[in-house]
Amino acid sequence: PLASPEQLGQRAARYIVDRINRFAPAEDRPFVLGLPTGSTPLGTYRELVRLYRAGEVSFRHVITFNMDEYAGLPPSHPQSYHAFMHEHLFRHLDIAPENIHLLDGMAPDLPAECRRYEEKMAQYGPVHLFLGGVGSDGHIAFNEAASSLASRTRVMALTDSTRRANARFFDNDPDQVPASALTVGVANLLEAEEIVLLVTGAHKARALQAAVEGPVNHLWTVSALQLHPNSLIFCDDDATLEL
Ligand code: GLP
Repeated sequence: PLASPEQLGQRAARYIVDRINRFAPAEDRPFVLGLPTGSTPLGTYRELVRLYRAGEVSFRHVITFNMDEYAGLPPSHPQSYHAFMHEHLFRHLDIAPENIHLLDGMAPDLPAECRRYEEKMAQYGPVHLFLGGVGSDGHIAFNEAASSLASRTRVMALTDSTRRANARFFDNDPDQVPASALTVGVANLLEAEEIVLLVTGAHKARALQAAVEGPVNHLWTVSALQLHPNSLIFCDDDATLEL
């Protein structure tokens, strides 16, 4: 555990940069990075931008896949994950626009959009490193409680708990939070070569306990990380309260 979210952001970003730099980009096989949204990765994204500006890393050979997106929000909506990622990360980096992948929450046929995303991931995959956060109720990406641990990219109805937690971005009104989202599944995460989870704050202590001390179960989908041979958790002191 690290003493503060700031330190966590610095350590996690340094870790990712080292991974990218150690990877020799073959012309047909770039570094494939899976990315989350949420408040937790903000410090990591800030530090990634700082390291890029300091000339310590380039994203020219990095391909990204975001974990999830709200259904029904256009990319121009400030709370869409498209807008979030461009604002906090992509627009500051030398990543090529065609190397950025996000699910399209406005697609006319959402299940078809999920299949398209699966195919894209399969084309470049496996993901080398999937970075993730966790909901205080233990969901990873938008794999809400009771998601199958074998789930793949699909449309998910969001739980009341998640809509209440995310209402802070929607005028504190849970009803304004979209009722469903598109998300990669637990199986997609487990197929990555490496998973790195970021957990900060006492409100995530129960989720961290579920992630580390198990039992592996579909009510706390983050517990599936225990099935992965190469997963790493960066957390702060506050998040360890229940361990
Ligand atoms: C949303 C996202 C998750 C994220 C979670 C926690 O539900 N879909 O990917 O991990 O929120 O967000 P925060 O980091 O703001 O606590």
